[in-house]
Amino acid sequence: MRGGLRRRPPGRYLGRMAGCDVVVVGGGVIGCAVAFELACEGASVVLVERDEIGAHASGAAAGMLAPIAESSGSGPLVDLGLRSLDRIARRLPELEELSGIDPKLLRCGVLRLAPPGEVEDLRAAAAALAGHACEWLDPDELHKREPRLAEEWGGALWAAREACLDPLSLTRAYAVSAERRGADVRPSTAARGVIRDGARVAGIRTDAGDIPAGDVVLCAGVWSGAIGAALGRDFPIEPVKGQILELEAPEPTLPAILWTPDVYLVPRPDGSLRVGATVERAGFDARPTAGAVAALLEAACGVLPPLSECRFERAWAGLRPATPDRLPLVGRVAGRPGLWIAAGHYRNGILLSALTAECLAAELVRGEAPPELKALDPSRFSSAAATRT
Ligand code: GLY
Repeated sequence: MRGGLRRRPPGRYLGRMAGCDVVVVGGGVIGCAVAFELACEGASVVLVERDEIGAHASGAAAGMLAPIAESSGSGPLVDLGLRSLDRIARRLPELEELSGIDPKLLRCGVLRLAPPGEVEDLRAAAAALAGHACEWLDPDELHKREPRLAEEWGGALWAAREACLDPLSLTRAYAVSAERRGADVRPSTAARGVIRDGARVAGIRTDAGDIPAGDVVLCAGVWSGAIGAALGRDFPIEPVKGQILELEAPEPTLPAILWTPDVYLVPRPDGSLRVGATVERAGFDARPTAGAVAALLEAACGVLPPLSECRFERAWAGLRPATPDRLPLVGRVAGRPGLWIAAGHYRNGILLSALTAECLAAELVRGEAPPELKALDPSRFSSAAATRT
């Protein structure tokens, strides 16, 4: 069956306890969601993560589920993101019940504030997206919603459906739920290479032994490129650093996420406020820096001056996996039977986790080709993507 699991005859792995249908490499939100959906499809799954679950970009994210605000309302991300947001909301009750972890979804909406030069474009976007609960707010209406806003904004695109949650909790909820569905989740287990059977990828080698598998799904974020290179596949994924801060939220807390081209403010139910984020090419350096922290604080207090009185809690950074078109690579890897990828989600890994995992599991297990995956085909950069054997 094309795209289906090559289910092995019973007993083939007797005595090789580590063998499985699918091994997932990477314990970020994408890997954990993929492991969960594959397990729900009946596959036997092993997930390996070099560090802790959610230790890197997933745990560092702000947790915004805001495809409209983050895209200014156009491009493929809007449709993919809105679908995925619905899927996350549908999946959450089951994830919470299975894992006992509540990622605290907050359906607070997003106000994308319009600098004077963006007013006409955002007003048009709000009208075009009215069917997705968007509307345009004039400056008076905007200041009624948040009177503490300092700047003379030209209005705002109000995206009522958009939301946020705690990204690390979501990642852990997927991981624990995957275990409850039978997956074997192994943190502190580093992939060291793959098992080859001719051209076919037949499992992985780890620092704790080999794991033979029918299929391997690479969900290693910015590290997917290095693993691909070892397999003769050049996945065009580069790290883009994002620094982020946490402050105590002002009283009363914000009525919505505030998004501007320079900074966004994300209120959390625990009374904190996440302030993000830089967009930096800094290689694999994920340390927060004084200059970026100062710039984010200045931008945040420029949007909402009372923030200057709020307690500073902490700063951190993550590495977003970016592809040339800023859309992820999801699906089968051409020319390497047994190898799949779900990586390169750039600024939208949390948001796109549900759609990515459901579509990939449907193709891998059932041989279906969900139409959403067309735009995410890993071979779309084929001149740049690899052809070495
Ligand atoms: N999605 C928010 C960010 O990447 O900064």
